Amino acid sequence: MSSESYFRGRRVLITGGLGFIGSNLAHRLVKLGAEVSLLDVLLESNGGTPINIQGIEHRVETIFGDIRDRDLMQRCVSGKDFIFNLAGQVSYKDSLEDPFLDLDISCSGQLNLLQACRLVNPQVKIIFASSRLVYGKPLSLPVPETAATEPLTLYGIHKLTAEKYHLLYWKNFGIRTVILRITNPYGPRQNVKNGKYGIVNWLLQLALSGGTLRLYGEGSQKRDVLFIDDLVDIFLEAALRESANGHVLNAGSGIGIPLKEIAEMAVQAAGRGRIEHVDWPSAEQQMETGDFVADIGTMSKILGITPKTSLPEGLARARDYYLRNQGKIIVGAAMP
Ligand SMILES: NC(=O)c1ccc[n+]([C@@H]2O[C@H](COP(=O)([O-])OP(=O)(O)OC[C@H]3O[C@@H](n4cnc5c(N)ncnc54)[C@H](O)[C@@H]3O)[C@@H](O)[C@H]2O)c1
Repeated sequence: MSSESYFRGRRVLITGGLGFIGSNLAHRLVKLGAEVSLLDVLLESNGGTPINIQGIEHRVETIFGDIRDRDLMQRCVSGKDFIFNLAGQVSYKDSLEDPFLDLDISCSGQLNLLQACRLVNPQVKIIFASSRLVYGKPLSLPVPETAATEPLTLYGIHKLTAEKYHLLYWKNFGIRTVILRITNPYGPRQNVKNGKYGIVNWLLQLALSGGTLRLYGEGSQKRDVLFIDDLVDIFLEAALRESANGHVLNAGSGIGIPLKEIAEMAVQAAGRGRIEHVDWPSAEQQMETGDFVADIGTMSKILGITPKTSLPEGLARARDYYLRNQGKIIVGAAMP
């Protein structure tokens, strides 16, 4: 069955629903006729904002709360058909600056959500947003889901732990879960107040404001970048396909593009901005994974889809969104 008809009338909870990925999912699911509830605690340091749901705010239920709240989670998961589980933060740097907050949300919070499902709604299906950073530095490319997991950051370690919780609740308690290891998503509704939310949108934002796009070293490290609409397609297929249950799947484009080329395309899309190469800061080098390209063969086979948006096309759509919403969204200042 296609997602066009499948989600009509389905009761869906999106944790982290005011954030970049969650709100894009919300817009799509509302269009598909789902009954959508959003749960978000709107942490200052994260990317969420109510502006992300402008246009659908009266068609979704918005709950301001925390996945770490036991009573609330039981109420929120009750009666839902699907949970798109995105609550968390995106920055490996933040995970090192405030390790206990990252641990608390990514591990205790996720365990709380799973246990609430076990207690009051074991029939629900959960799609969990993990990250390519669970792999660490790849030994070869492209990286399949079976590759070694040696995270270089606490963020990656905590995501890997949360993955294991989800898989254990599937194996031991029959709660249907799918893990998506997301690469580098970009596109409308990502916070661009600084660079920690996503490299592609950040480079585009710097270019749009006529600033300098600083690349470490040659900028030759490859990234697997994924347009948000393609990522939303992957989430929806993972939800509707029973054959995906219990799987860990890469959610990427399967294409590696050097950062320098991404920056050049951002400058081209914006029609302004300039690129500068600077030395690698040693702290950054320690956490750098090197080239990353996801092997999306298993994901495409199980979900029956392949991402279709080219980088120039995605950048043009992101540019149009940010230009249309100038003044409404929080944007960072251009670097001098
Ligand atoms: N954007 C990326 O590059 C990327 C890559 C891989 C994985 N992910 C994961 O995908 C998920 C969504 O990312 P995003 O880019 O939309 O980030 P985002 O910061 O835009 O959105 C995350 C949302 O989660 C909310 N949140 C955080 N802690 C919460 C809690 N305890 N209870 C309820 N809500 C909470 C935040 O307020 C925010 O609105 C995150 O878990 C992130 O780790 C993101």
